[in-house]
Amino acid sequence: MCGIVGYAGPRRASPILLEGLKRLEYRGYDSAGIAIGRGDGSLSSVRTVGKIQALKDAVPKDLGGTWGIGHTRWATHGGVTQANTHPHFDGSGKIAVVHNGIIENYRALREMLAKEGVVFTSETDTEVIPNLVARYYKGDLEAAVKAALVHLEGTYGIAVIHADEPGRIVGARNGSPLVVGVGEGETLLGSDVMAFISSTSRVVYLNDGEIVSLDPSGFRITDRSDSRVDRAADAVTWELGAIEKGEYPCFMEKEIFEQPDSIGRALGGRLDQDNATAKLGGLNLDRRYQRAVSRVNIIAAGTSWHASLVGAQLLESVARIPASADVASEVRYRNPVVERDSLWFAVSQSGETADTLYAMREIQRKGANVLGICNVVGSTIARESDGGVYVHSGPEIAVASTKAFTSQLAAFYLFTLHMARMRDMSRAEGERFLAGLAAVPDMIKTVLGRRDAIQAVAKKYSRRRDFLFLGRGLLYPIALEGALKLKEISYIHAEGYPAGEIKHGPIALVCPEVPTVFLVSDDGLREKVISNIREVKARGGPAIAVGVEGDKELEGIVDDFIPVPKMDSRFYPFTMVVPLQLFAYFCALDLGRDVDQPRNLAKSVTVE
Ligand code: G6P
Repeated sequence: MCGIVGYAGPRRASPILLEGLKRLEYRGYDSAGIAIGRGDGSLSSVRTVGKIQALKDAVPKDLGGTWGIGHTRWATHGGVTQANTHPHFDGSGKIAVVHNGIIENYRALREMLAKEGVVFTSETDTEVIPNLVARYYKGDLEAAVKAALVHLEGTYGIAVIHADEPGRIVGARNGSPLVVGVGEGETLLGSDVMAFISSTSRVVYLNDGEIVSLDPSGFRITDRSDSRVDRAADAVTWELGAIEKGEYPCFMEKEIFEQPDSIGRALGGRLDQDNATAKLGGLNLDRRYQRAVSRVNIIAAGTSWHASLVGAQLLESVARIPASADVASEVRYRNPVVERDSLWFAVSQSGETADTLYAMREIQRKGANVLGICNVVGSTIARESDGGVYVHSGPEIAVASTKAFTSQLAAFYLFTLHMARMRDMSRAEGERFLAGLAAVPDMIKTVLGRRDAIQAVAKKYSRRRDFLFLGRGLLYPIALEGALKLKEISYIHAEGYPAGEIKHGPIALVCPEVPTVFLVSDDGLREKVISNIREVKARGGPAIAVGVEGDKELEGIVDDFIPVPKMDSRFYPFTMVVPLQLFAYFCALDLGRDVDQPRNLAKSVTVE
């Protein structure tokens, strides 16, 4: 959340900063700004409220200067106004700072600085930073930033420039990600690699407590004790094409339709047919330890939490290992019991979600192994976890997560198979499970082929104001996910519930204006859900069902039926979530919403 970009090199900085901000827009999009060194002892700055396009329109086409910083904001302290937009400056206007994170002691620092004569122009926590840097500046920006940081409590990823130090950018990280991009005769900085992906694919990740001082010829990292840190550059493998919309009108549609491929990548090389199990090379746990695991606890946020709920159920029912999935922001402050022989997972598409990261660190502090399930290679959770599984979805740009969700499911299915085969699962059963998993991408292709029929159902219901989503067993988390997708991008109120729980409250909402979406498997729970549908219909509630192809009885009792191909019922979470993604997408489209960048949300939430 909040995107940072910095550039120092021979080229004109403004187009590079604007392009970086455009690519970072998914991190926050309420206001944006840039500051560029002119080389004459002054800085140029443009800041606008609204999306990056507004900033692009406001920046003079010929704006000069070859080093600078930029920021796209997701407001935390202070409303969405031009005055609160980054960069922020010291009183002289020579020092500019962009910041991602929250300075918790900013009130005390503001008071201290105000007593010294500083006049503040914004309501932000950030504005204390340039003024602290100014307080210590004696011709060496890096030294002044280091002195200023001593005062800061909270989280930050910052980039700082001084008008009198051409080509220099100083960055610092504590809790909010920063990455250096190493180019040919130029150096870049970003809150993630998207910031500079079209300029370089060689990157160096900063760790918490590190400071980087960069200029066009390179960079130097130091740690809290001022010791030099030598770190080789990693190569980013993402292709530029993967972060463009291509033929699709928006990223969300592209990402929904990519799922057969993205799941294929998550499974790629991991289906061990010879041994009827899954190969996961990154777990970093010895086999005896894996065999002794007596409980799995999973922490995550948002859509990743829903994937984790499926994962936990699967581990219990298939691998027979007690498992639970919990919201990371709750776990962190609950003082969780970390049992011996328990294994933990932190699940995060971005690998940067603050709630999940901090909860993970708390659990590691208590001595447990925490594995990561992440999409973004080199992200903080991926690096700090004790091992894990990359899901290889490729970059997910739309704020509402779709392909990362199904790839996270794939990671859990693989892990479950691996653990089950180490325990009681027979070879024959392992083969059946493998076959079911391998069939998923094609099954999803079939569902995607029903795009138009799903769009027609969405059109019929998109003006309704409230929805219920109901499912049982493995499909209960899918009901939660369907409801979340709908509210995130269409702003229609939707509640996901376990179908059996409807009679304990939600049924009071049922009426002709409130449709209910049912997820109906063909396993032992089908009859129970059919009874729930009859209860809803008896009260005049419209019923939409996502069910199994050929289920005539179900088709006969609901108002609208969206079929998915018949398969081993353990794999329906994959196929049944796809119609719900499309349903939410088409409802949002019909309502004219900004599908990729819904209001108030950000893709990567790096503050608590
Ligand atoms: C934000 C996004 C959600 C996402 C959640 C967790 O709230 O808007 O779409 O599911 O963060 O993100 P993560 O990167 O940890 O999976």
